[in-house]
Amino acid sequence: MAAIQINNVEKSYRALKALDGVSLTIEEGEFYGLLGPNGAGKTTLISIIAGLNRADAGSVQVHGHDVVTDYRQARMRLGVVPQELVFDPFFTVRETLRLQSGYFGLKNNDAWIDEVMHNLDLTNKADANMRALSGGMKRRVLVAQALVHKPPVIVLDEPTAGVDVELRQTLWKFISRLNREGHTIVLTTHYLEEAQALCNRVAMLKGGRVVALDETAALIRRISGSQLVVKLASGALPDELKPLVSHPEELIGGDKYTLRVNEYTDVEPILAKLRQSGAVIEDMQLQQADLEDVFIQIMEGEK
Ligand SMILES: Nc1ncnc2c1ncn2[C@@H]1O[C@H](COP(=O)(O)OP(=O)(O)OP(=O)(O)O)[C@@H](O)[C@H]1O
Ligand SMILES: [Mg+2]
Repeated sequence: MAAIQINNVEKSYRALKALDGVSLTIEEGEFYGLLGPNGAGKTTLISIIAGLNRADAGSVQVHGHDVVTDYRQARMRLGVVPQELVFDPFFTVRETLRLQSGYFGLKNNDAWIDEVMHNLDLTNKADANMRALSGGMKRRVLVAQALVHKPPVIVLDEPTAGVDVELRQTLWKFISRLNREGHTIVLTTHYLEEAQALCNRVAMLKGGRVVALDETAALIRRISGSQLVVKLASGALPDELKPLVSHPEELIGGDKYTLRVNEYTDVEPILAKLRQSGAVIEDMQLQQADLEDVFIQIMEGEK
């Protein structure tokens, strides 16, 4: 059974189609990236998964439980870290987490609350009022709130927006541990290097549609190869290498060239040809395509 099954979900706000027939299957145990530019429909989709928003058409199940007709069962299995910071300012951190436990019918949840606070570096703020916390601290509490009922499926909507390096590392360590222990993670972020490092699979949304979906590594391999940048101290680029140059303006009187390579094994013959032609390399760099390159390429193709 899928952790989250999304079937043909549509959602419009007046004339605007925020979701235009989205279908995704997120398997149990995945670390899944949901990426896309501002306004792509990510938060709309997440709020439908969380049962906070109704789809116009289609359906969503969490561990087989429909988020509308079987809301309570679906909600029990789901922890959502929302994009927007919303709190009751008069409660302390610990009270907020106890209250949230109460919503899920959990009494005596303090041992887990303490563990979550410890892992998110919140312990010394346990008795601080929510209104007295900085933005990054509030976001830690949002994450903690989503985890109080140990949900098997955790959805994080831009959890690291406006968050310092230390918390990011703390957060990813904890979330990765939960993933290793079997929790399914769905992550939305604009930090593509985070998505690349963490997610085994990525879906890209644009204009309410899925425009790319694959394993992260396959996406990077499929869309674009690497580039070998060579700077020559003397000599010229041999004619047979000229078709590999990805920026043609470099052929006019330059000494630095960017050559397309598909695999590491392409590099050796290029170097051999340069050597045979008598060219001397002053500097050289192999630039690996990354998820950001792929993202830009796909989004441009979708214009
Ligand atoms: N309550 C609403 N009323 C009207 N339009 C809305 C509402 N909520 C979202 N939208 C619109 O739906 C589209 C998708 O918004 P959504 O918040 O899902 O995007 P997103 O992918 O989460 O973007 P971001 O990266 O900026 O968070 C946007 O064009 C947005 O303006
Ligand atoms: Mg959003």
